[in-house]
Amino acid sequence: MPSSTKLSPSTCCIPADQSGEYTIHFTQQLGSGTFGTVYKGTDKNGQHVAIKQINVDRHGKVATNEYATFLRLKHLDHDNIIKIYSVLSHRNNVWAVMQLCPYGDMNKYFNDHFHDVSNIKEKVHLIQEMTTGLTFLHGEDIAHRDIKPTNILVNYECGSLRIKLTDFGLARCLDPDGSTSAMSTDAGTFHYKAPEFWKKTSNGAIRYHKSIDIFATGLTSLAILQAREGEPLRPELEDPAVSVVSGMNIGMMMLINNQMNLPGVNVAVSKDGDCPVTKSVKELIRKMTTFNPADRPPAKWVLMKVKELKDTKGILESRVNEPYFKVVPT
Ligand SMILES: Nc1ncnc2c1ncn2[C@@H]1O[C@H](COP(=O)(O)OP(=O)(O)O)[C@@H](O)[C@H]1O
Ligand SMILES: [Mg+2]
Repeated sequence: MPSSTKLSPSTCCIPADQSGEYTIHFTQQLGSGTFGTVYKGTDKNGQHVAIKQINVDRHGKVATNEYATFLRLKHLDHDNIIKIYSVLSHRNNVWAVMQLCPYGDMNKYFNDHFHDVSNIKEKVHLIQEMTTGLTFLHGEDIAHRDIKPTNILVNYECGSLRIKLTDFGLARCLDPDGSTSAMSTDAGTFHYKAPEFWKKTSNGAIRYHKSIDIFATGLTSLAILQAREGEPLRPELEDPAVSVVSGMNIGMMMLINNQMNLPGVNVAVSKDGDCPVTKSVKELIRKMTTFNPADRPPAKWVLMKVKELKDTKGILESRVNEPYFKVVPT
């Protein structure tokens, strides 16, 4: 394994496999999450890159997992998946060199450029981009398991907004017959977790499939539609007391309502007076967030519906771009 060379307290070089050497700029942090820190870096030609550092001592399993998924992704190429240039495990760190998205993640983008994405057409475009990435991942038998706004990067390519799915720390490479293979380790982030994460089997285990990504993508879409200026993206029900005061998220609420035979097992009902686009968007989100995982449509189907939606006549005039896209439990 090549050794790293410390140049100064603020930079260091990682010699990366065949792709050459990269310099990390520790003073230019792009972001950090539960498991890693991402810094700005440069390649040997001076081109900017993003470099993620994951500490193996602190996040052993996640680091090893992300390393393996990055190695797989490095050989795959898709416009809606972050491009991995190089990945190496060195001493007690995993380093992943990837394409830099200067606009950052979706949360940051909505914060910095709210008015560029406040109309329904742009929002549906973002949902389409996200679903295209997910369709590709699922087609490659990879479950992401942590879809949410901060794991979705924003870029501009060829004059339009481009979404890149990232953060593969919790991703799982499935068997080729991935649609039937169940997973059982806890994953995901609280507000985007599907109800089956709280449903214990008789031996106390959980059991779920890649349809959890459809659920999380449905709630991320909801968060995009509900975006309010200056506030972080987050899916909410019309009556926030249900999800906030009682410390529940939407998935948990669905499970409790289901077990107690209460209404509120699904979300996103259309109201009288909703225009056709609003109705279609809500219906799509309702399907993606269906309580029963087997009833959630595959990513490919969702993508087809989003494309139809984008081509709907009159989408620009639609009233979905109200400041708050309300949904109620039903
Ligand atoms: N390629 C990139 N370009 C720009 N910003 C990035 C890039 N990768 C990650 N980030 C920023 O760093 C944050 C953390 O990265 P992420 O891979 O999600 O780490 P974690 O596993 O710790 O959640 C992201 O939410 C985003 O804001
Ligand atoms: Mg993350």
